[in-house]
Amino acid sequence: MSGKFITFEGIDGAGKSTHVDWLAGVLRERGKTVQVTREPGGTPLGERLRDLLLNEPMRVEAETLLMFAARSEHWAERIEPALSRGEWVICDRFSDATYAYQGGGRGLEKSKLQQLEQWVFGRRQPDLTLLFDLPLEVARERIAVANRPLDRFEQERADFYQRVRQAYLERAHAHPERIRVIDANNSLDHIHKQLEQIILNNRSG
Ligand SMILES: Nc1ncnc2c1ncn2[C@@H]1O[C@H](COP(=O)(O)OP(=O)(O)O)[C@@H](O)[C@H]1O
Ligand SMILES: [Mg+2]
Repeated sequence: MSGKFITFEGIDGAGKSTHVDWLAGVLRERGKTVQVTREPGGTPLGERLRDLLLNEPMRVEAETLLMFAARSEHWAERIEPALSRGEWVICDRFSDATYAYQGGGRGLEKSKLQQLEQWVFGRRQPDLTLLFDLPLEVARERIAVANRPLDRFEQERADFYQRVRQAYLERAHAHPERIRVIDANNSLDHIHKQLEQIILNNRSG
């Protein structure tokens, strides 16, 4: 039996965190051992790097390298060992987010990201990526309702987020077998049904 690696992607306010816990519950009910984790973060060092990444002004190069420093620890210390034990890993953001934010949003060349991926986790990609897509204005409204302080990314302007959304959609278009686009503008109920369908159809173990 081998575990599955599922990642959740999408712009801030799309509903990733909301659905991560729900999916973990569904899988546990079906007898799976599930690790829920997030990026940047997921390890003690990774969480410290997250704090820097979300709050400390820095250039895109440092931002990208710190993301991958955190991801390297996360992959080697937590994700890969769990998958080897046959567990499922559900991760709130992973490498596609770096293509979307640092690549699409900040304009960093894709080839640099490909090299870093190769170094950090080789050819292994998530088994399934759920991309929560929705109009920027809806995402913004949801974040505003939550009424909490905005991090360094959430404070970015609308055109940055349009590029991030676009880069995510391009990535889904380039990897249709792995990335499923979810219309995150639907009700929670509707999305849960859709996720159940996708997971059941993807299930091999
Ligand atoms: N489909 C939905 N319909 C209405 N509100 C939603 C939906 N999905 C998420 N929300 C709300 O939007 C806010 C942002 O969701 P969250 O899961 O934190 O997004 P993300 O983790 O992608 O930034 C939360 O307050 C959440 O309750
Ligand atoms: Mg979240």
